[in-house]
Amino acid sequence: MAGIDYSERIPNNVNLHENRRLQRALEDWQPKFLEWWKDMGPYGFQAKEVYLRTATSVDAQGWAKFGYVKMPDYRWGIFLAEPEAGRQITFGDHQGSPAWQDVPGEYRGTLRRLIVTQGDTEPASVEQQHHLGRTCPSLYDLRNLFQVNVEEGRHLWAMVYVLDAYFGRDGREESEALLQRRSGDPDKPRILRAFNEPTPDWLSFYMFCFFTDRDGKYQLASLAESGFDPLSRTCRFMLTEEAHHMFVGETGVGRIVQRTCELMREHKTDDLRRHGGIDLATIQKYINFHCSVSLDLFGSEISTNAANFYTMGLKGRFEETKKRDDHRLKDATYSVAELDGEEIVSREEPALVSLNERLRDDYVADCQRGVTRWNETIKRHGIDVELPLPHRGFHRAIGSFAEVKVSPDGRVISEAEWDARHRDWLPTDEDRAFVQSLMVPVVEPGKFANWIAPPARGINGQPVDFEYVRLA
Ligand SMILES: [Fe+2]
Ligand SMILES: [Fe+2]
Repeated sequence: MAGIDYSERIPNNVNLHENRRLQRALEDWQPKFLEWWKDMGPYGFQAKEVYLRTATSVDAQGWAKFGYVKMPDYRWGIFLAEPEAGRQITFGDHQGSPAWQDVPGEYRGTLRRLIVTQGDTEPASVEQQHHLGRTCPSLYDLRNLFQVNVEEGRHLWAMVYVLDAYFGRDGREESEALLQRRSGDPDKPRILRAFNEPTPDWLSFYMFCFFTDRDGKYQLASLAESGFDPLSRTCRFMLTEEAHHMFVGETGVGRIVQRTCELMREHKTDDLRRHGGIDLATIQKYINFHCSVSLDLFGSEISTNAANFYTMGLKGRFEETKKRDDHRLKDATYSVAELDGEEIVSREEPALVSLNERLRDDYVADCQRGVTRWNETIKRHGIDVELPLPHRGFHRAIGSFAEVKVSPDGRVISEAEWDARHRDWLPTDEDRAFVQSLMVPVVEPGKFANWIAPPARGINGQPVDFEYVRLA
């Protein structure tokens, strides 16, 4: 198992020193990345020591070490999962051929676009979270924010490596452009809508990690099946880091739900705003918002692009190799939720063009598992409320449901009903201002803001009151 060479300027397990041209290209990009990080990375904490994990190998047993590091000194590097001897393409028209070690010429443009679209989300999320550190609910949470941030930075490195190593001059130009677009900038926005939404408060941050970053997990898992082996190996290691981001999102919202339940019992009311808690109704609105904008990231229900990515062998299904069918899907069908006038019905569609919807289904099932755990917390407190996921047609901007208005419980409704009700379903300016009013920094080790419960345990076996960020 190859370790990672930390004596090099760019830590890597890809023998970078053997490819001078590539090494020079990446060493030329490195200071630009650092400039972007100092500009757009966490605001105000760049000189502080943070208890972070850093990848030191790609071995499943102990791939990371923990220690204090100032974020600009973080060792962002290039780590690919170990090659699998004799790996074959497992789906599409090239099924059974050896996996490509180089870019197949006829798919060059398509593949580049796929990689750039994924790569663009990584720095975007760091930009969206630029100001959050200033209002952290605890040092533990502050550290988790920064851990996610540095790893999204590393994911950018992961994608830039593939672009620079395999796409020549075009790849290097794309690498530059990845540092030039800015989340929410009207002139040079990030590529996908959800990555241009601000993350103004910690409730939004945890919802983002739970819903939006989880889209990333599903996209990475599909690209990890790719016939283009370097992309597959890059994504496989990114998924290892991604598991922590899912944890941060699920436990973050879970701790807010828990604290809300405690306050409801203590004050015998569900109107918690006077008591400095986030009421369940507000949490529901944030779920509705973040879930719906994240559902859009999977694209249209019926998509010839998705079919082509699959047929070409570039992007598989979630857990492609575990599925028991022909992995070509030319004659298969898949059940897709569609509009039929005022009704939402499911219809059998050709499986190949339905791949976006299939991935969305896998994603929704995964979201539901986390939401069910939040609901169990509510139940344990003897509170008779359930937080449901909104219907997939609710508040959509992409796909067939973008043409109509759908309520969270899945009814097609009139514009008039939408206008009358949407303030009950989505966060209003008042809701956002209220949540913002709670965002007062808490930075004493072991102390937590009133609206969130402490975690069950600390990071890497450290106690909850550990000094996760040294502010002094
Ligand atoms: Fe990422
Ligand atoms: Fe992530």
